[in-house]
Amino acid sequence: MDQNQLKRLVGEAAVDYVAARVTRDSIIGVGTGSTANCFIDGLARIKDRFAAAVSSSEASSQRLAALGIRVLDLNDVSEFPVYVDGADEVDPGLHAIKGGGAALTREKIVRSVAQEFVCIADASKRVPVMGRFPLPVEVIPMARASVSRALRALGGDPRWREGVVTDNGNIILDVHGFSITDPVGLESEIDHIAGVVTNGLFARRAVDVLLVSNAEGVEQVKRS
Ligand code: A5P
Repeated sequence: MDQNQLKRLVGEAAVDYVAARVTRDSIIGVGTGSTANCFIDGLARIKDRFAAAVSSSEASSQRLAALGIRVLDLNDVSEFPVYVDGADEVDPGLHAIKGGGAALTREKIVRSVAQEFVCIADASKRVPVMGRFPLPVEVIPMARASVSRALRALGGDPRWREGVVTDNGNIILDVHGFSITDPVGLESEIDHIAGVVTNGLFARRAVDVLLVSNAEGVEQVKRS
């Protein structure tokens, strides 16, 4: 099975996971990226069994709407049961790096309102220690140089993702060179740099359930 097939497999598994938990009133949190797109496409088959979605990006909102799924503004929603999204790396403690698609800030906001974060990934995303995938950091444009200096002082090698503007009008620095053995500490430390909007570590509020696909099928891993 190639990686696209593995993404489709885990996207469908997430639809089954959600289908078993929703009622007609339910709102579903929906993430961003190629794996999340497989989930969105699969959601179409159960769209009459839940009320609406909230989404973590303009791209996902458009994809949901095109499939006839109602998309609500997060300001109109106080809580919902499940947020389903992909990840760039997941460690054994189910901490994750996200933001390869530059949607990390809205992803973290939507995740913060959800009772449960269900992460969907193919097996290549599981790593013993995160950091080989460069850590995305969303930054206010005028702070690009000052934040870069602060990230260098933390031992990272930040590189500007030129040409990318987030849905919030900001820029992304991708930080190479970290070996992330303390994801909770690093997430807090980077968030406290003036000019940082969000960083792509989902560690203080980590993944609750990981659905991970490989050639044998989909494994479900719960955070202990
Ligand atoms: C989007 O900003 C990201 O957080 C994605 O969820 C993450 O990059 C995984 O993307 P793929 O599913 O496309 O690998």
